[in-house]
This record gives sequence, structure tokens and C-alpha cells, in this order.
Amino acid sequence: MPEVSLTTDWGKADFARSMKIAGQVCSLINYYNRLTTKYRPENILCRSKQYLVLMINDIVVGCIRIHNQSYTFTELRHLCVIESHRGGGLGDLIVKESLRNVTTPMVYATIKSTNAVSLSLFGRLGFRIISPSYLNGGGERVDVAVATTKVLKREYKLERKG
Ligand SMILES: CC(C)(COP(=O)(O)OP(=O)(O)OC[C@H]1O[C@@H](n2cnc3c(N)ncnc32)[C@H](O)[C@@H]1OP(=O)(O)O)[C@@H](O)C(=O)NCCC(=O)NCCS
Repeated sequence: MPEVSLTTDWGKADFARSMKIAGQVCSLINYYNRLTTKYRPENILCRSKQYLVLMINDIVVGCIRIHNQSYTFTELRHLCVIESHRGGGLGDLIVKESLRNVTTPMVYATIKSTNAVSLSLFGRLGFRIISPSYLNGGGERVDVAVATTKVLKREYKLERKG
């Protein structure tokens, strides 16, 4: 049986192991999310609590950043799943699990307008696109998908116990 973990607690491991995980997260998001500003492992490690990381047999296969922007909004960013593991519901699983960690009333994601898979994923989960779309700093058109956290948590029974 593969060993699976989906956690924001990975940064509590010893430094060498945490850095290794941070390095993998960093490679994934720099590559798959085509970030204009490239991240370094130390950028990820110092925000480790914000990164929900999915590991299978000790290899990072997906992640998401849960970025608390204000009292009202949390932004979900840097969602990615490695190519070999896509299409099996892992993206869906990561977003749903990330919602457990969201404490603000609203949650949103900024998604490139050409990213049909991601738009569909967030749409299926109950996020709604607010219009108009706009051009981001890199000159790419993006949509913002927003949802009410409480509704999503109720819908998917994601309230924490206790
Ligand atoms: C976006 C991304 C994270 C989705 O990851 P994923 O693991 O493939 O996501 P899911 O499997 O949950 O959903 C993707 C598709 O697989 C389908 N799927 C889900 N579970 C499935 C299953 N058990 N069997 C077959 N297909 C399934 C979904 O219906 C969905 O298809 P649809 O969009 O046509 O409805 C991934 O494509 C990725 O990393 N992309 C590059 C980075 C990126 O664009 N990130 C988003 C930034 S906003």
C-alpha cells in the first residue's frame, strides 16, 4: 500500500527533511504554475504552514498554498498535481482539504482564463467566476473564482470536529 500524507505540518520535520520537501514543492510550483517570480525552497519553508502538501511514498505529488489575505478573504494559490497523477481526483481532494484550513468567510482563486481544467475543478466545487476577467502583471488574462467558505464546508462536510 502506498504511504499517503496530506498535511500542512511537514515543516515540523527535521531541517534536512523539511528542506527536501520545500525543494520539491518549489520545483513543482515554479514549473507547473509558470510563476513569473520564481520561488526558492527557503521561501516555501518559512511559510510551511500555508502549504498543504500531498505526498505519496515520501514524494511530493501535489500542493496548494492557503494564503490568508485579510479578515474576509483567503486566497488559494499554487494548486498543482504532477502530470503522472492527474485526472484521478487529487486536485479535487487537495482543494477540499485546503478548505478545512480556511478561517475567513470568503475564499478565492485567481485562474488563467485559458486554464480549462482548473476553471472546471473550482467551478465543480462551487466556486463562481466573478466578471470581468482582467490582465495580470504578466499580461495574461485571468478569472477570479470565489466562494463562501461556510457553504463549501457544509456542502462537503469539512467542518473540523471539536
Ligand atoms: C489543475 C490541476 C491541479 C488538476 O489536478 P487533477 O488532479 O488532474 O484534478 P482532478 O483529477 O481533481 O480533476 C481534473 C479532471 O479529472 C477528472 N477526474 C476527477 N476524478 C476522476 C476520476 N476518478 N477518474 C477520471 N477522471 C477524474 C475531473 O472530472 C476533471 O475533469 P474535468 O475538468 O473535465 O471535469 C492540474 O491539472 C495541474 O496541476 N495543472 C497545472 C497547474 C495549474 O494549472 N494549477 C491551477 C492553478 S489555479
